[in-house]
Amino acid sequence: MNATDYLIYTLADGEFHSGVELGDGLGVTRTAVWKTLDKLKELGLEVESVKGKGYRLQEPLDLLRIEDIQGELEEDVAARLQKIDVFTALDSTNQWMLSRTKEASGAICRVCLAEFQTTGRGRRGRNWQSPFAKNLCLSVGYTFSEGFSALEGLSLAVGVMVAQALQPYRLADLQLKWPNDIWVHRKKLGGILIEINGEQSGPCHVVIGLGLNVLMRQSDIEHIDQAWTSLVQESEVPLSRSALAGCVINSLVRGLELFEREGFAAFRDRWLELDGLRGHSVYVAGAANLDGIAQGIGNHGHLLIETAEGVKEVAAGEVSVRCA
Ligand code: BTN
Repeated sequence: MNATDYLIYTLADGEFHSGVELGDGLGVTRTAVWKTLDKLKELGLEVESVKGKGYRLQEPLDLLRIEDIQGELEEDVAARLQKIDVFTALDSTNQWMLSRTKEASGAICRVCLAEFQTTGRGRRGRNWQSPFAKNLCLSVGYTFSEGFSALEGLSLAVGVMVAQALQPYRLADLQLKWPNDIWVHRKKLGGILIEINGEQSGPCHVVIGLGLNVLMRQSDIEHIDQAWTSLVQESEVPLSRSALAGCVINSLVRGLELFEREGFAAFRDRWLELDGLRGHSVYVAGAANLDGIAQGIGNHGHLLIETAEGVKEVAAGEVSVRCA
């Protein structure tokens, strides 16, 4: 464990720790401790320093613990997964996993999580913000033996898998917004970013990135340009980020295996039940540039929009809902 991680894990309890105690643990002087504490600020962690007492974080952290995540895994999922990596900080879990796929000599099925991403990526070139140890930033690397065409509908299916993992949290009004935002009360709880590394035909490595708001509150973040919410604000069920990560991994690994066998057809009915756009007046930006009423999805997961010129299918785009 490096010095920064040591300090994070020690201070995570929210209690005071003296400079001497921290220095002894790290085997360095108090001045060296002070310099490392400065690095925590770069991760967005506020450290309070009180003379005679030492240092503490402004609030305790619910850090991801690999043993707790593994303890939640179903037997078949644990057997199928090659590895879980948990990082304190990364540029982007998707980027990290994409690099692993480039090095892979065979099929992969692995997961990585980070407490903090310095350049977290969202869809359509946006960035994805997530304060340290508040949410889930998770990527799954998975190899599909067929080429790109077999991946049709995958991003929608992943939305269904995440919704399934959230069932124990008894969320009222959990919906999916095409193509794959997770909504609660029509506010964004999470988003999915799928990136692919492979050939048009033949095996391809897919990276499924999930950002899920868990403990984040309005005061934790400066500005997000859309309405959002988090599990702590919507669920009465006690939260542990590691237990949640385990549930999500179970659902994703099993879901990806099912998708590989049966394709989007196995998820389409559930997606339609969760559709948060149906019957709403929407505008689709991008190449489609359409106005109309959302009418569900077709067999391949394309959005159906009823327009003045008839029903149109949209394969990709950004949907905004028009106010009633
Ligand atoms: C969206 O724009 O709705 C998709 C957001 C996806 C964010 C996640 S966080 C984990 C993974 N790593 C990234 O850099 N992005 C995805």
